[in-house]
Amino acid sequence: MKHERTVSLGTSKEALGHAVSLLRNGDLVAFPTETVYGLGADARQGEAVAQIYAAKGRPSFNPLIAHVASIDDAKQLVRWNDRAEVLASAFWPGPLTLVLPLRDGHGISSLVTAGLDTLAVRVPGNETAQKLLNAFGGPVAAPSANPSGKISPTSAQHVLDGLGGSIAAVVDDGPCEVGLESTIVGLFGPHPMLLRPGGVSKRDIETVLGETLQRQSTEGSITAPGQLLSHYAPNERVRLNATEPRADEVMLGFGTVNCDLNLSQSGDLKEAAANLFDYLHRLNAMHAPIAVSPIPETGLGVAINDRLRRAAAPR
Ligand code: TXA
Ligand code: MG
Repeated sequence: MKHERTVSLGTSKEALGHAVSLLRNGDLVAFPTETVYGLGADARQGEAVAQIYAAKGRPSFNPLIAHVASIDDAKQLVRWNDRAEVLASAFWPGPLTLVLPLRDGHGISSLVTAGLDTLAVRVPGNETAQKLLNAFGGPVAAPSANPSGKISPTSAQHVLDGLGGSIAAVVDDGPCEVGLESTIVGLFGPHPMLLRPGGVSKRDIETVLGETLQRQSTEGSITAPGQLLSHYAPNERVRLNATEPRADEVMLGFGTVNCDLNLSQSGDLKEAAANLFDYLHRLNAMHAPIAVSPIPETGLGVAINDRLRRAAAPR
């Protein structure tokens, strides 16, 4: 459905009440989470979920994350296990997604799982997201609220720039705190798997779990299909591990370097993660190729480098 205008909503009880009625009506509502803005639809309404794929121009084989208000709500949808209990207790609400086998009577549209017999679930940490999910009282399917393959949105303005006119509303709660998508862990097989690096580091998860996460091989067929190589793509070419910009480039720096925008002068990876997508949006608007400083491959740096490699991948 094409909307003449996308309504920008605040975070008052009335505004969230309006967002809930839009979701119940099968409309799309973008909402803040602590990671990035999500493009939400009622996960039980197939037609509503179909609109997500249409609005994003997303390949239909790519399954979506179901967002719920609590661990108890998650347990209604998936077959829970000991590892899930340990990880959810430690990291929810927060930037961690768990992939588990679907449970009988789950009620989730098969468009959410793209026909898989597993479901990705998470309880987001942002307070507005919590209020919205509690008021809605059901699972909200939500990918990042950007056109497929483009830079993820960390503000309501990013959402409007990419999807304004194609969705009913966006709930504006300012910039996202973490700024990187959730870490995705698969708990459906014999070994826990890291399906996507993200806002919680691999090491923190392994420490809590007392087990090593296996990295999903990119050759595998099921995998997180979101592992499409080119993703988060600015319009111009991206060059990684640059020490300085070439004449035609703008520079995204890290640490003490001369650059147009600095992810973190002090070399703080958390600060860099929170700035990453916003700065890519801003540099994108400068219509020049982008050079990027090297980022250490530790902690959140793993997820930052994952996103940057995709932004730099051949299209
Ligand atoms: O932080 C986040 O995770 C954000 C916010 C909005 O919650 N959402 C997000 O969604 O990044 P999206 O759709 O951009 O990425 C979801 C990822 C994709 O890589 C998808 O393939 C994977 O989750 N995924 C979803 N269901 C899956 C499943 N059953 N098995 C394996 N991977 C799955
Ligand atoms: Mg995305």
